[in-house]
Amino acid sequence: MKTVVITGAASGMGAAVRQRMLADGCRVIGIDLRDADILADLSTPQGRAAAIDAVLSRSGGRIDQLVCCAGLGPHVDPATLVASVNYFGAVALLDGLFEALRQGSDPCAVVVSSNSATLQSWEGSPLRDAYLAGDEAAVRAMVEAAAAAQATRDQAGYIAYASSKHAVTAAARQRAAAWGQASVRLNVVAPGAVETPLLRAGLEDPRYGDAIRDFLPPLGRRAQPEEVAALIAFLCGPQAAYMHGNVVFIDGGLDAVQRPLTF
Ligand SMILES: NC(=O)c1ccc[n+]([C@@H]2O[C@H](COP(=O)([O-])OP(=O)(O)OC[C@H]3O[C@@H](n4cnc5c(N)ncnc54)[C@H](O)[C@@H]3O)[C@@H](O)[C@H]2O)c1
Repeated sequence: MKTVVITGAASGMGAAVRQRMLADGCRVIGIDLRDADILADLSTPQGRAAAIDAVLSRSGGRIDQLVCCAGLGPHVDPATLVASVNYFGAVALLDGLFEALRQGSDPCAVVVSSNSATLQSWEGSPLRDAYLAGDEAAVRAMVEAAAAAQATRDQAGYIAYASSKHAVTAAARQRAAAWGQASVRLNVVAPGAVETPLLRAGLEDPRYGDAIRDFLPPLGRRAQPEEVAALIAFLCGPQAAYMHGNVVFIDGGLDAVQRPLTF
């Protein structure tokens, strides 16, 4: 029986992945702020360390799959929380559970990013550099500065969200060489708009609601969380044995429309 660790397992895509993995006969260890096997706050270094310790003790130091779904949307205040959970919460779990994954059978991890990761260029951005250097204090200071400046005040949440998703995608790809040599596959899923509580809260936010409503893909509908869970289950399964370091969009065609010449 495969042991699968899922962050953000209480809601939305994490809950759908949990259901899917249980249906596939896996043992699931869910991590979340509530309604999970392990209650931990991934916005803080202490919470991340506690989550990792709890997984290691429950699993005996051996897991087969890790799916990082925990995350916050751009509407959440303060915006620094978005950066801390979406990037540092995911990367800490990847690195902290890498050795346990190495002990697993056909091990792999999947990180849930977003197609917001590619909506603007972060080339040469000090914010991106700070994320990738692991400098959480610097990231939080830059996001705080964006939230304080009149010109960017209403966009600070979006800046934190898009930059965190861009950086977490880059961080996963940066690990492809070392993880591949250890035979631990690591892939990224980049959803468009998915019908979850996070999306619904964003739609109700006066700063972001209209932009999210306008974000309709060519297929003319948003995704259901189960559709993303099916992709994640595929990426974790034997038919994806040669997929590694890849970013897979699941967005109803949004990325193709937004960046037809870039792939
Ligand atoms: N819904 C969308 O349209 C969409 C699109 C692209 C990417 N995403 C990303 O998908 C992932 C899942 O989002 P969702 O839409 O299912 O949202 P959701 O709100 O339904 O679920 C997210 C889960 O993460 C948990 N979480 C948040 N902060 C946490 C913390 N500090 N510590 C531990 N757990 C925490 C929440 O409690 C919640 O259960 C997120 O990373 C999100 O950014 C969502």
